[in-house]
Formats: sequence, structure tokens, C-alpha cells
Amino acid sequence: MTVTTLSLKTLKEQGQKFSCLTCYDACFAALSNEAGIDVLLIGDSLGMVLQGKNSTLPVTMDDMVYHTECVMRGNSEALIMADLPFMANNSVQDTLNNAGRLMQAGANIVKVEGEAWLADSITALSQRGIPVCAHLGLTPQSVNKLGGYKVQGKNLDAADRMLAAAQSLEEAGADLLLLECVPRSLAEKITQQVSIPVIGIGAGNVTDGQVLVLHDMLGITPGNKPRFVKNFMTETNNILDALKAYDNAVKSSIFPAEEHSFKN
Ligand code: KIV
Repeated sequence: MTVTTLSLKTLKEQGQKFSCLTCYDACFAALSNEAGIDVLLIGDSLGMVLQGKNSTLPVTMDDMVYHTECVMRGNSEALIMADLPFMANNSVQDTLNNAGRLMQAGANIVKVEGEAWLADSITALSQRGIPVCAHLGLTPQSVNKLGGYKVQGKNLDAADRMLAAAQSLEEAGADLLLLECVPRSLAEKITQQVSIPVIGIGAGNVTDGQVLVLHDMLGITPGNKPRFVKNFMTETNNILDALKAYDNAVKSSIFPAEEHSFKN
């Protein structure tokens, strides 16, 4: 069945979880469909995962359009979400132009990193029929400002600010939220207090959906793995079965377990 932002909202209302995985090409899009993955994210993580760069900052709109087209060709039923890369949301007009390119390349929804200041851009996108996922918490495009890839929302002030941002971005017209690296208790509060579906990564099993970077869950990313990553290949030794195991673990709330989550 074709996944839409509305079908994800229905799942949230029914208390059912959904799965999301990054995807950068047609072959993995087709395999992910076969495994039942609901949302394919063309993340700007492709800069680090595919291009070997040391952050997501060098990723361009042309890179994102190219990989979105690749994923679109292999996909038949998942919702395709594509990232607006660093500085592609400089102004409302830039956001509209760049989101338009991603939608014409095959995206069904665009994802933007930021905070409450995204509201005007989200409203403008929504008015033009472009669904939006607002990415809060650890926003890797701001790694230089954040001082590293660190858990966000740990103190009361920061947690209150994130909750307020989530509520104002829902009001501005966001269709989904993504929370990266936030304490489980804060993710739970935000998920309960907004009516739009919330996808988590490093946010505990309390959000409506989960996302992982494909190469991380296949155990092929070199170097140290973040705490929230699980390698699904160790149990299956076969890519399709690993994708199915991830989908199943998310939908049955087995993943993420306590050891993949952060406390305050
Ligand atoms: O770029 C990306 O892959 C992401 C996920 C890690 C959430 O934004």
C-alpha cells in the first residue's frame, strides 16, 4: 500500500509504529520496499556515507536531486522524503525553490533542519502543497555551532524550547517531526503533545517512527558507531533479511532498546 503523510498520521492515531531508513539509490529503494520500510529518507548523510566527507555541510542541491531521482526510480510504495541540504533554506524564497526541485525529482516530502525560526518557510511550503518534516534536536548541519554531535535538550530550558518549537512548527504546517539525539523522556513528551507523527533517531522507542542510516544498520560504516545504532546484519547475514528484521523490530517496539537511548 502506498504510504502517505496521511497514512502515517492514521498509524499514529492507532498507536502503531512505522519504519524509516535512509536510502540513496534505486536498488536499495526496491529492497526496502520488499522489506516493508514505510519511509525512505534521502538524507544529506550521503555526504558522509557515500562521499566520504567529514560532515554534511558540503552536500549540494545537485547531489540531493540526483539521489532523489535514483531512489524514486526504484521505489513503488514508500513515502520518499528528501533533505534540504546546508544553506538551501537561507530564505523563504530559497526554501521554496529548492524544495520545488526535490519534489520535481520525486520527493513526496522535504525535511528541513532548524528550530522555531523555520515557521515562515514551513507555512510557505505547506501553502504550496509541499509537505514538510521539521528536524529538531541534533541538527548535523549546525555541528559547528553545537560544538559536536551531542545529545540536545538535556537541561530544562533547552527541553522547554524544543517542545515549544515542535508545537509552533506543527501550527505552522509541518506534517512530520524528526527528533535526533534527544533524551527519551523529552521525545516521549513531544510525541504526546503534537498530533503529527514524530520520527526518532537516538530518541528512544517512544516516538511514532524510527529512522537509521542504512549503512549503519548494515554494519558497513567504518569507525565508531553512535550509541543509538544497531547492526541488523549480525543476526541475519543477508541484506533483505536485515532490512526486514529492522522493520519488524521498529514496528514491535523492540528497537530501539534501552541501551540505544539517552537519559537526561
Ligand atoms: O541525513 C540524514 O540521514 C538524517 C538522518 C540521520 C535523520 O537526517
